[in-house]
Amino acid sequence: VVEASERLVLPGFIDSHVHFRDPGAPQKEDFFTGTLAALAGGVTTVLDMPNTQPPTDSRAHLVQKAAHVATKAVVDYGFYFGATDTNIEEAASVAGEVAAMKLYMGSSTGTLLVTEFSPIYRHFTTFPLDKPIAVHAEDEQSLKYFGGMGLQDHNQARPPLSAQIALSRAIAIAEKTGRRLHVAHTTTWRELELIQEARSKGVRVTCEVTPLHLFMTEEDQHRLRNFGKVNPPLRSRDDREALWRYFDDIDTIGTDHAPHTREEKDQPYSQAPSGMPGVQTMLPLLLNAASSGRVKLEEVVKRCVTNPIQIFGLKDKGTLEIGKDADIVLIDPNHEYVLADDQMLSKCGWTPFAGTKIKGQIQQVYLRGNLAYNQGNCLSTAGSGKAIRYSK
Ligand code: DOR
Ligand code: ZN
Ligand code: ZN
Repeated sequence: VVEASERLVLPGFIDSHVHFRDPGAPQKEDFFTGTLAALAGGVTTVLDMPNTQPPTDSRAHLVQKAAHVATKAVVDYGFYFGATDTNIEEAASVAGEVAAMKLYMGSSTGTLLVTEFSPIYRHFTTFPLDKPIAVHAEDEQSLKYFGGMGLQDHNQARPPLSAQIALSRAIAIAEKTGRRLHVAHTTTWRELELIQEARSKGVRVTCEVTPLHLFMTEEDQHRLRNFGKVNPPLRSRDDREALWRYFDDIDTIGTDHAPHTREEKDQPYSQAPSGMPGVQTMLPLLLNAASSGRVKLEEVVKRCVTNPIQIFGLKDKGTLEIGKDADIVLIDPNHEYVLADDQMLSKCGWTPFAGTKIKGQIQQVYLRGNLAYNQGNCLSTAGSGKAIRYSK
C-alpha cells in the first residue's frame, strides 16, 4: 500500500534514449551511476544506445554488454542494436532481444555509421518491419562538405539542412519498404513538416524530441560553450517553438543523456566531445512545463510512458495498470528548488540546466513495487534493475 496524500502519483518514466558508456568509457558514466541518476529522476526504465566500446553491433557484443551491466543496474533497461554496413543478417537475428535498431546516418560519438544506400536499404528490408529502426538523421556528406569549408564552429558544420537531407532519405526508404521508422532527436521545424507529410502518405514514422531541444536554444549554446555542444545542435528560437507547436505530432521524449567529463569538455572547441547529460532532469523540467501551462501532464505521460511502451514493445511496463510492473513516482507538487551540479548522480557531475528553478520534487520511486528511492537516498542494490522483455 502506497500512502500518497498531497502527492502527485505518476507511472515510472521511460527514457528511450540514453548513452550509459558501459562498457568502454567508465570515466564518463557506468551502468550503476547512469541508472542511479535515472532513478533519482523518476525514470524506472532506460533504453541504452549502442555506441559503447565495443559497439553493440553483434550478438557477441550484445551478450557481453548484457552480462557486463547485469550486476550494476538499479532501474530496468533494454538495449539498441547498432547498424553497420555489414551486420544486416545478424541485426535481424537478434531483433527480438533488443528494443530497436539505431542507425547513424551521420557520425557522432563512437564509430557507428551507415551512409550508403545499399546497406541502409538492406537493413530496412531485413530487420523485422514492425520493430523500429531509430535513425540519427544527419547527413554525412553535408557534414563533411560544411566541415571541409574550414568553419571553426563545429556546430555550424551541422546545419539544419543536414538533418533534413538525411531524414528525407530515411523517409523515402521507409515508404518504399513499408517499415517502421523512429526519428531520434528531431530538432527543426522542417523535420516536423517532413514527418507530418510522410504520415499523411501512410508512412509508419514516429519521432522523438529531447528536453535539451525543448528547453534550450543556440543562445544557451553560446552561454554554455563546449558544455552545450551536442549532435544535432541546439537550434534557433523558431525551431524550439516549432517543437512545442507540433507537440501533438511528437511521439516520445527521450533525453539523449550523453555524459562527458568536465576535462573532456574543457578541451579546445573542435576537440570537445558532443553531448550533455539529462536523464535526471527530464521529469523535473517537464513538471515545470506542466505547471506553467505549456503542456498537460497527461500529454507528458503519453510521451514518456505510454508511447515508448507501445513503440518499443516493452512487455511488462504499463501506466499503473494491473498486471504490469508497479513502477511509481511520488512527487511533492509544491516543493520548489534550484537544479545544481552537486545534485547530479551521473558520473560526469554537471548539468546544462544548473540554476533552473523547478516546481515539484521527486520524493519516492518504486521499481516493480519495491521502494527503490526515498528522498535523496537509493535503497536498492546494484543489480536490482532487470533486463526488459519485448512483445515484438
Ligand atoms: O551529441 C551527441 N552525443 N550526439 C550523439 O549522437 C551521440 C552522443 C554521445 O554518445 O556522446
Ligand atoms: Zn543520435
Ligand atoms: Zn543519442
